[in-house]
Amino acid sequence: MNMPNMKQARLRTKNPHKIIKDDYIIPTNVSNIGKNKNYHVITYGCQMNVHDSENIKAILEDMKYKEVNTIDKADIIVINTCAIRENAHNKVTGMLGRIKHLKETKKDIITIFCGCMAQEENYVKNLTQKYKWIDIIVGTHNYHKIPIYLENIMKDKKQEVEVFSIEGDVYENIPVKRDSKYKAWVNIMYGCDKFCSYCIVPYTRGKQRSRDHLDILDEVKKLKENGYLEVTLLGQNVNAYGKDLNINYNMANLLEDVAKTNIKRIRFVTSHPWDFTDEMLDVIAKYDNIMPYIHLPLQSGSNKILKLMNRRYTKEEYINLFNKIKEKIPNVSITTDIIVGFPNETEEDFLETLNLVKKLKYDLAYTFIFSKRESTVAYNMEDLTPLEEKKTRLARLNEVVNENAYANNLKYLNEEVEVLLEDKSDKEGYLMGYTNTMKLVNVKADLSYLGKIVKVKITDVKTWSLDGSLVKELANVR
Ligand code: 5AD
Ligand code: SF4
Repeated sequence: MNMPNMKQARLRTKNPHKIIKDDYIIPTNVSNIGKNKNYHVITYGCQMNVHDSENIKAILEDMKYKEVNTIDKADIIVINTCAIRENAHNKVTGMLGRIKHLKETKKDIITIFCGCMAQEENYVKNLTQKYKWIDIIVGTHNYHKIPIYLENIMKDKKQEVEVFSIEGDVYENIPVKRDSKYKAWVNIMYGCDKFCSYCIVPYTRGKQRSRDHLDILDEVKKLKENGYLEVTLLGQNVNAYGKDLNINYNMANLLEDVAKTNIKRIRFVTSHPWDFTDEMLDVIAKYDNIMPYIHLPLQSGSNKILKLMNRRYTKEEYINLFNKIKEKIPNVSITTDIIVGFPNETEEDFLETLNLVKKLKYDLAYTFIFSKRESTVAYNMEDLTPLEEKKTRLARLNEVVNENAYANNLKYLNEEVEVLLEDKSDKEGYLMGYTNTMKLVNVKADLSYLGKIVKVKITDVKTWSLDGSLVKELANVR
């Protein structure tokens, strides 16, 4: 048993991480345990978790389990959790209640609890005491060992807890079952060393570890050969790519090399303003297949709060970067993340955020009320603002965010855009997809257009999405 330890999770050494290529094995006595059995994976949180779930699905399929779309039909249930804010906990607790109920009638169900909450010391302590029926608790560093943990519980029928609060390594050659046939997540780095004072990620995901660029390029090339049209390069802080490898190769170099594979569309998330270089902007502007879309978290418009958040930039520096991006990348769309109600945020601080959002007119902003996270520096900051006040601030901010989103979308009315039609829309007879600038579009089109990049004329505009119709039906497919 290995329990999480938040103090240890905070440590950073100068030791370089290892790139390990041969650690994934399936012991022979579990290589068939999934035969005639089903699994279901529930995923909460960010794209990183979504992609981890794609790995976990493939690992289960390597043991012959088959995917089903509800927990009721599953013999093995995986809950991949998120720890970024407290409300993620409530959702998970509700789900655990449902699974426990299922287990009362179907005793053999195996439950695997994983993700960022599995890295939280106090939460896991509670799980091991009050949720003894959970079979396996596995942390974010060691999913590839799931077959071994399954073998262990087969043998001794005891709860298996294996969570490492370590800096971590990079594991290659873990199988993946991608949710989409057209667009793929590609990890370029793991972990984070920024330690923003509110954020639990550096504790739950370990230190910043970049993958070898040759492994990344190899993955992108194979995806392209297999018909994939879009890749999203993933990391908590992708602009810092390569800094931990001590080689002369950075995010701009990587973006350029990925662009040269000629895969149709390249995206990347998330960018920390601190590491955004002019060199990167030049590469993004130079290649048509790097999409003109940047997610650039602001978090706050007040220098006092930015400092308390340990964000390492001032409002002025952020505005400078924002303007440079707009100047250098034609037609770029920029989205952001904002936290309201950080400890000591006054009405004046909040107004600075609000006014900045009014000025910058983001295409979209994801807004959150500050949530206290275990072990972070902000956890112990005095916080006198009542929750009701924070909710009001959030609503005031969202009003401006929505106005901006709608105004930005209006610019698309009657324009022609390119959309990768990736799935059925909720609207009957429609498909959905995203523009180069990451605008969600519903398009009236039959299923034969799925997986195609098409020209679409925008016919209607809403706050969160656009409606459009195919241009010149057949001549427009690429
Ligand atoms: N409380 C509220 N929001 C948070 N985020 C990260 N940590 C917290 C927290 N403790 C937000 C940030 C980040 C996004 C992914 O989640 O805005 O950019
Ligand atoms: Fe969290 Fe800051 Fe790292 Fe983003 S950059 S994951 S907000 S610590």
